[in-house]
Amino acid sequence: MNKTESRKSEHVKVSIEKNVSSQYNYWDDLTLIHNALPEINKNDISLKTSLFKRKLGAPIIISSMTGGYEKAKKINENLAVAAEKYQIGMGVGSQRAALEKKELIKTYSIIKDYDVPLRFANIGASQLVLWGHKKSLENAQKMIDMIDAHAFIVCLNFLQEAVMTEGESNAKGVYDAIKKLASDLSTPVIVKESGAGISYAVAEKLSKTKIAGIDVGGLGGTSFAAIEHYRAKMADDRLHERGGKTFWNWGIPTPTSILYVGDATDWDLPIIATGGIRNGLDAAKAIVLGADAVGIARALLEPATKSKEATVKEVDAIIKELRATMYLLGINKVSRLPEADWSLVGEKLWI
Ligand SMILES: Cc1cc2nc3c(=O)[nH]c(=O)nc-3n(C[C@H](O)[C@H](O)[C@H](O)COP(=O)(O)O)c2cc1C
Repeated sequence: MNKTESRKSEHVKVSIEKNVSSQYNYWDDLTLIHNALPEINKNDISLKTSLFKRKLGAPIIISSMTGGYEKAKKINENLAVAAEKYQIGMGVGSQRAALEKKELIKTYSIIKDYDVPLRFANIGASQLVLWGHKKSLENAQKMIDMIDAHAFIVCLNFLQEAVMTEGESNAKGVYDAIKKLASDLSTPVIVKESGAGISYAVAEKLSKTKIAGIDVGGLGGTSFAAIEHYRAKMADDRLHERGGKTFWNWGIPTPTSILYVGDATDWDLPIIATGGIRNGLDAAKAIVLGADAVGIARALLEPATKSKEATVKEVDAIIKELRATMYLLGINKVSRLPEADWSLVGEKLWI
């Protein structure tokens, strides 16, 4: 294994073996108002939706996580099996490793063997600056072709870069690089935060580009600072171990970020809400607040390291919970979820 491969492998291992969640899950601070007279039949509820012109069986995306080392192939395959069965979207982790080493392509492209209706390619944003526009376009196309992607995710991961031992903390020029890529790439470009959220100001700035959508990737679930804290600890790197702890809870909570982005002037692009979604009830809350779909990472990673059956079982439970929530709200289709009433019941969420 080269350095990139072992880092990818450590990310998965640490995420599963340690508690890498942010200290607080902000979905707990919101409640949906029960409808005691729902006047619908649970079996008549439709979870179908469409996103980036692709039809989905439910407004759920298996978030970008892995690829780039041998064992990741099985994880991606287990996730793809569930994505096919329930016709939900799926992303792979940053594909840089496969650009550097062709033998690793299959750890991502395995998902092409399944009928996943919406597939997302993925790269870290700082990579675009390092490559420059021409090479970014070429490499983006390679990554898209690798998995026959319908959309290309540019991941904003500056929190991770800032606290990671081998971090590349170069953010200068990233906005321009995204802007140019979104103009020139024929595949839709999605900008995704990876745990620290998108503010109102950043959403406004991004809305002036040709991106096709945003994943707010807020605080409340997996904390990359926490992951890097444990990785540094394993490597006896005291400075980064400390940094990971200091920034463990840095960021904008996912619910807050959905509202910020939705409030940005003239915002009419799809919003994906990732960060701390543990079940179908959290998913419903995110859509009530204005998300078009939710992204789920950690909750599906664990079963995906075990088996296809465990992964399918978890997705099935999440979908059943989403349907049950809609039933209790008296709402029969996804597009009507924002009509539901909600209330702030906790004290930590700032909105
Ligand atoms: C092991 C692991 C690896 C990840 N790698 C990537 C990545 O390569 N690209 C990316 O955009 N997000 C990556 N993420 C972030 C997730 O897509 C997601 O935004 C984050 O985990 C929050 O979701 P959660 O709270 O459901 O885990 C990764 C997450 C985990 C747990």
